[in-house]
Amino acid sequence: MRAGLDCKFLALVVVLSTVVRDGDVLCGADPTDGFVQVPLTEWNFELQKPYDKPLDQRYSYHDGVRRLWVYADDKPHDPSSMTKPRTEIRIRGLDYSSGVWQFEGYGFVPNGTSGVSILQIHGASHGATTFMLRIYNGDLKYYVSDLVDINDYDKWMRFNLIHNVDGGKVTLFIDGIKKFEANDHGPGDLYFKCGVYAQANASYYMESRWKDIKIFKAHD
Ligand SMILES: *[C@@H]1O[C@H](CO)[C@@H](O)[C@H](O)[C@H]1NC(C)=O
Ligand SMILES: *[C@@H]1O[C@H](CO)[C@@H](O)[C@H](O)[C@H]1NC(C)=O
Repeated sequence: MRAGLDCKFLALVVVLSTVVRDGDVLCGADPTDGFVQVPLTEWNFELQKPYDKPLDQRYSYHDGVRRLWVYADDKPHDPSSMTKPRTEIRIRGLDYSSGVWQFEGYGFVPNGTSGVSILQIHGASHGATTFMLRIYNGDLKYYVSDLVDINDYDKWMRFNLIHNVDGGKVTLFIDGIKKFEANDHGPGDLYFKCGVYAQANASYYMESRWKDIKIFKAHD
């Protein structure tokens, strides 16, 4: 739907034809409008998990659902790393440093998982990351204290995360609704990640599930 058309008329048509997509706002644009999907293969899904564990003890992929889990006393992903435990998908081969990029994926966090980053943009001109979406006791936060959304356990949510590197902005949509926007942290070697990466006050068990992950790039 295009802004500028008669909204009442469009709303009527939409209601009558019952094609309202779950979460869409009448007369609102879809976050992916104006973007082109970048084709992905399994190669683009690099898995990071505790270095001493086989992948199948921290990750499964069945019926399109990628399930990633980790424990607070797990080892880091690399023996030389001092970071906290993680099991994460790192989108490989699509690092970017300019332009406008978008991650789309349906995510699910089971009740009990807390103190963990579930979605990241890695890289920045200062600091290690541009964006982190964390869950604390069911509430989604941008890093530690900026509240993004509440009561988010045990349900699938559609996440659209847009990084406008040229404009210096990061925008998050949940179920098609804009929930958060922030300045980015400058250009760098940037890439998307999702899964579980322990933070302060992590629960012992951490899990998130993901499906239908897509990457988009804005039209030039
Ligand atoms: C999560 O689990 C706790 C403990 O079992 C329970 O009290 C709480 O209501 C649950 N929350 C949700 C959103 O299901
Ligand atoms: C961790 O938990 C402690 C005690 O509840 C609290 O004071 C602190 O702010 C928490 N830190 C974070 C990063 O959530």
